[in-house]
Amino acid sequence: MVQAWQDFIDFTLFSEEQIQARIRELGEQISRDYAGKELLVVCILRGGVMFTTDLIKQITVPLAVEFMAVSSYGVGARKSEGEVRITLDLNTSIAKKHVLIVEDIIDSGHTLASVIELLKTRDPASLYVCTLLDKYSRREVEVPIRYAGFPIENHFVFGYGLDMDEYYRNLPFIGTVNLDKYVPPSG
Ligand code: IMP
Ligand code: MG
Repeated sequence: MVQAWQDFIDFTLFSEEQIQARIRELGEQISRDYAGKELLVVCILRGGVMFTTDLIKQITVPLAVEFMAVSSYGVGARKSEGEVRITLDLNTSIAKKHVLIVEDIIDSGHTLASVIELLKTRDPASLYVCTLLDKYSRREVEVPIRYAGFPIENHFVFGYGLDMDEYYRNLPFIGTVNLDKYVPPSG
């Protein structure tokens, strides 16, 4: 059984309209910054997938998309273990390319710091980060963020790519979790 989100939501942090409006702004900014260049967008699975698909529709420079999967949170865990594994690597070379990493949220920073460290060794022309959410007060390692959708307080959030035990990623809005009411899926 999977609990209905209505049973544990604390409040809606960002509505679908707010998210889409901010993505249009980010798309315009990125399109200006990369004018005359080509982009390689690297989507971090699975959380970054909703944001990536909406964001690239708002970018006007030619671009290609690649996917990378990284694991840092175990099911049921609420805290990054500080250990990051690449579970799916890129299919193409990023050498001499303008790479933009797209992520759902930066929390402790361990996940992105590892990804950046790895991709830097592959000689990209440039390497920047775009995150939808920045949980800045939780940072344990520094991550250079060029584009951030929204800075957020230390809430646990779900929806729009962000999961609770792998569910609720499909919701078009972002809500905060009341951890006293949340029950992990069973079966
Ligand atoms: P970091 O390595 O601590 O920065 O963790 C980043 C990853 O943790 C993100 O890619 C998310 O998958 C996950 N994460 C962090 N905070 C939340 C949250 O509030 N809700 C859902 N997932 C989160
Ligand atoms: Mg993630």
